[in-house]
Amino acid sequence: MGWEDGFHFELSDEEQMVQETARSFAKSAVEPLAAKIDREHYYPGELVKAMGELGFMGATVPEEYGGAGLSNVAYSLIIEELAAACASTAIIMSAHNSLCISPIQNFGTEEQKKKWLPDLAAGKKLGCFALSEPGTGSDAANLSCTVEKRGDKYIVNGTKNWITNGPKADVAVLFASIDRSKGHKGIAAFVHSLDLKGVTRGKPEDKLGICGSPTSSLIYDSVELTAENLLGDEHGGFKVAMHTLNGGRIGVASQAVGIARASLADALRYAKERKTFGRPIGEHQSIQNYLADMVTRIDASRYLTLSAARLKDSGRQYIREASMAKLFASETARFCADRCVQIHGGYGYVKEFPAERHLRDAKITEIYEGTSEIQRIVIGSRLMKE
Ligand code: CAA
Repeated sequence: MGWEDGFHFELSDEEQMVQETARSFAKSAVEPLAAKIDREHYYPGELVKAMGELGFMGATVPEEYGGAGLSNVAYSLIIEELAAACASTAIIMSAHNSLCISPIQNFGTEEQKKKWLPDLAAGKKLGCFALSEPGTGSDAANLSCTVEKRGDKYIVNGTKNWITNGPKADVAVLFASIDRSKGHKGIAAFVHSLDLKGVTRGKPEDKLGICGSPTSSLIYDSVELTAENLLGDEHGGFKVAMHTLNGGRIGVASQAVGIARASLADALRYAKERKTFGRPIGEHQSIQNYLADMVTRIDASRYLTLSAARLKDSGRQYIREASMAKLFASETARFCADRCVQIHGGYGYVKEFPAERHLRDAKITEIYEGTSEIQRIVIGSRLMKE
């Protein structure tokens, strides 16, 4: 019996099988590369290829479009297992699925789905999501990137920032303001290939954590799109963004659970080995208190996350639940990673052990796909409406 065996959430046979496959892949292929990915800011192209073959790069995409047709619970379990091994690999896969594939799957026409989904789902093409800008993150409706309608063309100008997968992506889902006077009702969403004339990528960001997940800006200089690129209604882009982020938040929550789990596993191992005052440090009550808080918060985060995913699978409303999962799981990841460093003492502060990596990786989960402050706004405002 290990500490993870006490956790129980009803999974289907398929979900259990997917969890086992993801765990075994994460242990055998991802974990051995995690330190290199972090230290060398190495993009794990070979893992992306393997994840394509395993069906992870199109986890919830229906089989008719080349995907694995899995549930959102299964998708969450895959991300959790990947993140327990390497948080960078987990976000490469989850940004691709949650933020690029999902809006095409949910808002694309039949032609758009047939055109974009098969290569994305196979991992032959990598996707990204271009919403944030140098001056706009949380206030997502306040976009400076503009799109002007000229005849049957849409001309895009502006800069998008903090684009996960930006340096490597082939396909982007883009948001631009088509009528700034209309605020959130004047935003258009597009799907396009990144090899279009006029699109350039900024230099990869040098980040605190998730160092193998490449991030850059995307610069649009009079880029020509057409109605074939439009996702949803011409003024319906904000709805596409919000819907997409609701699902994405379950993905980040799953990533956070994985980082928290890895932090506890490492802390526990060390607490059993390291001795002070003649006994393993895990026998001291102060260390046990840390471990107790960690495992309690991890299980609570997993229940919140899987329950939000199950709600999404059942077609019910899950906006507040996704934000609650993301808020609680990301704060848990930072808490657990911090305690993991503390338990390791000086060894937690050097790169020889993964503890310090967990702490650097955990922090971003409180920032991207909606900061903790935004999650509290979403949760509070939904409660007022329910
Ligand atoms: N789900 C569905 N609809 C939503 C929604 C949600 N979570 N939040 C708002 N809406 C709808 C509202 O119901 C409203 O609809 P109507 O027009 O029909 O009335 C409309 O959107 C506008 O709502 P608000 O007036 O509340 O909008 P707002 O401008 O005040 O902003 C916000 C609301 C919740 C703060 C929103 O701006 C937000 O979520 N901001 C955070 C954005 C974010 O997460 N950015 C992360 C960037 S992606 C990323 O991290 C990149 C990466 O690569 C990882």
